[in-house]
Amino acid sequence: MQGVRNLGKIDLPLTRCNLFFGPNGSGKTSLLESIYILFRGKSFRHIDARRFIHFEHERCFVYARTSDSQDLAILKTRQKTKLKLSGRSNLNQSELTRLMPVTLVDPSELELLDHGTGSRRQLLDWLCFHTETQFHAVWLKHARVLKQRNRQLKSLKTAGRVTVHQREELMIWSDQLAALGEELNQIRMQVIERWQPLFEDKIRTFLPQYPGVRLSLRSGFDQEVALGEQLEERLTRDLEQGTTRLGAHRADLRVTAKQTRFDGTLNPPASDVLSRGEKKLLIIALKLSQIELLSARGRPCVVLLDDMTAELDQAATRRLLRLLKASEAQLFLTSLDQSISDFARSIWGADLSVFQIESGDILPKSA
Ligand SMILES: Nc1ncnc2c1ncn2[C@@H]1O[C@H](COP(=O)(O)OP(=O)(O)OP(=O)(O)O)[C@@H](O)[C@H]1O
Ligand SMILES: [Mg+2]
Repeated sequence: MQGVRNLGKIDLPLTRCNLFFGPNGSGKTSLLESIYILFRGKSFRHIDARRFIHFEHERCFVYARTSDSQDLAILKTRQKTKLKLSGRSNLNQSELTRLMPVTLVDPSELELLDHGTGSRRQLLDWLCFHTETQFHAVWLKHARVLKQRNRQLKSLKTAGRVTVHQREELMIWSDQLAALGEELNQIRMQVIERWQPLFEDKIRTFLPQYPGVRLSLRSGFDQEVALGEQLEERLTRDLEQGTTRLGAHRADLRVTAKQTRFDGTLNPPASDVLSRGEKKLLIIALKLSQIELLSARGRPCVVLLDDMTAELDQAATRRLLRLLKASEAQLFLTSLDQSISDFARSIWGADLSVFQIESGDILPKSA
């Protein structure tokens, strides 16, 4: 790789578990970011490439060879992205993304639980993408139809009147949107059903005091009534607002605790109940159960763990590492110091590589 943030030209021989240690500002997160960019086409820190391309460089690139001898590469300038996969250069990001499920496990990412629905929906859709082959095509079509419908709603709102012909045209978009939305919903429900037992198992490991924490899907529409009917019923209000307020694009992954409150409300969001440290463990349970599900379906992950020892206590860190080893994930682990390396060595043995990062330069450390 070259030109990602402060990192110089880096060429690394990698193994199953790769531990990088170095002081604050040395480039640890940037290294994980590079791997993420290669597979996902974007950074987990910021969507704008200007942020992660070295400020003195015009471009950055990341290249990797997989154990089955596929070469993949991404080159980013401030405006453009070029991809390569084993000599082929006309490809979509989704083809690189599909090669390997890459995930960042960041227990400090509390907004995943506390804020809007977008990031939780993405978490679920990422799992759907990697486990259900048809998901991506349906998702893309749904996004396209939604965009068309919203464009038309907006222009009709501005015009202030709707002819019979325009209303009929809108109905065609609505029908397509309903069919695709129901399909997305169906896939999401199936995936949550498979994910749930693994998630509950991880809750028993990391949060045994909360046996009732569960996953569920909020569909974005009433599941008891056909989505087409609901869109038709809402059409006048959608026209007033100039956007589609109901459908699979509004879905949310709910993570709830088992509780009955004095006012009769049932099962509040787990984030309303858990402490800050417990929320971190909940995030671990979510991510780890995803990794295990993918592994069980023959898709071991590349897992990026940033500064884990600063976020979790020693017992939780060790439990996490043992389970990751069992999931056959390839690991990239960063830490301020080498304190975790003896434990990692006891698990991975010769499959552990240790590197030191110093001002954007990375050097292997011998065992
Ligand atoms: N576009 C850029 N070009 C060059 N350097 C950058 C750019 N963006 C950030 N940096 C620098 O990259 C350095 C490494 O940042 P990074 O977040 O990778 O450090 P880190 O090792 O993870 O630190 P910490 O332990 O504090 O998390 C920082 O000193 C930062 O100033
Ligand atoms: Mg960092």
